[in-house]
Parts: sequence; structure tokens; C-alpha cells
Amino acid sequence: MPIDNIETQRLRLRAFQPNDWQAVYDYTSDPEVMMYIPEGIFTPEQAQAFVADNRGEHARAVAVLLKTADRLIGHMMFHPWFAPQTYEIGWVFHRASHGHGYATEAAEALLRYGFEALHLHRIIATCQPQNVASCRVAEKLGLRREGHFRKCIRSPENQWWDEYFYALLEEEWFVAQGT
Ligand SMILES: CC(C)(COP(=O)(O)OP(=O)(O)OC[C@H]1O[C@@H](n2cnc3c(N)ncnc32)[C@H](O)[C@@H]1OP(=O)(O)O)[C@@H](O)C(=O)NCCC(=O)NCCS
Repeated sequence: MPIDNIETQRLRLRAFQPNDWQAVYDYTSDPEVMMYIPEGIFTPEQAQAFVADNRGEHARAVAVLLKTADRLIGHMMFHPWFAPQTYEIGWVFHRASHGHGYATEAAEALLRYGFEALHLHRIIATCQPQNVASCRVAEKLGLRREGHFRKCIRSPENQWWDEYFYALLEEEWFVAQGT
């Protein structure tokens, strides 16, 4: 079932709607935001396709809105990974919304949903070591750095990127919650 209407203190996570594509294009066309995203910057058509592909049963991403303004400020990737009961989580936000703790707040809500509603066993995340903000989000969430893969993914400019690999287990989540 697609994720819809998870609320945090400041944010609403909801399924994408067709007219979200322009707001998505606003930040996915920003070279600074997309610097570490293997797909690179989106065209308007790619933003439309991203929104269309992430609607309904097989959505892999969820829109993040600022509740006070009802404005779409980014998205979270959250989808099954290769192993059973394992999801991958990721985060991309509009540059104007960086540095307010929104990625961490949205991710924490998805970790809770993943472990407490979906009963996942493990949630993983990856980021390039030089993407300090993204690595910091993973670490603030309590994800454990389990690996450093050398030159394992290719950038849009055909450079090889290293990746850190992070994970959190269900039992670690419940210990951290004190339950
Ligand atoms: C990664 C990203 C989602 C973080 O979003 P955000 O809402 O700003 O994240 P948060 O505010 O929750 O946390 C960011 C943390 O990184 C820190 N940070 C950001 N830039 C930093 C830098 N250059 N050096 C050191 N720390 C940095 C912030 O200070 C904050 O940590 P703190 O709370 O301890 O101060 C956002 O930067 C983004 O959209 N980046 C582009 C897309 C991207 O690269 N996504 C990840 C792909 S792996």
C-alpha cells in the first residue's frame, strides 16, 4: 500500500499528485541539489515521469510538504531493497529548505513507519563520503556505517564514486525508542 499522510511536527508526507511535478522540477533541476544523484538534473519531462512513476501501488518515493505553507519541499525515497523485509531510504530537498532538520524529521517518521507498521527487519541508506549533509542525516538518525564501497557507482559525468553504506536493524530501532 502506498504511503500517505504521515504527519510530523512540521511536515506532511503524502503520495505524489500529478500536479506536483512543477515543484519537483524546481529542486530536481538544481545542479547543487542533484550533484550526488546518479541520474543528474531532471528535465521537465523527467520530473513529470518521476511523479507519474511514483504514484499508486509501486511508488518508491513520497512527497514531503511543509505543513504551515502546504508547500512541497522535497521527497523521500522509501522502497523495498533486495533482501526480504528490507527497505532503502533516501532524501532530496529544495535548496531553500536545507539546514532546518527537515530531512532528519521526515526520515525519522519513515523509520518509525517501516519498523512499527511494516515490521521491517532492516532499513539501509547510502551516500557518497563527500556528501557531508547526507551522511550527517544518516548518522543523526542512528544508522550504523557498515561499509565503504570503493568506486562503486558512476556519476552523470562518468566519474566513479565511492559510497558509504548505512543500516539500522529493527531491534536497534526499538532499543533506541526505549521499548
Ligand atoms: C542531504 C539533504 C537531504 C539534507 O537535508 P536537510 O533537511 O538540510 O538535513 P538536516 O537539516 O536534517 O541535517 C543536515 C545536517 O548536515 C549538516 N551539514 C550540512 N552541510 C554540511 C557541511 N557542508 N559540513 C558539515 N555538516 C553539514 C547540518 O549542519 C545538519 O547537521 P546538524 O543538525 O548536526 O547541524 C539535503 O542537503 C539535500 O537535499 N541534498 C541534495 C540531495 C542529496 O544529496 N541527497 C542525498 C543523496 S545520498
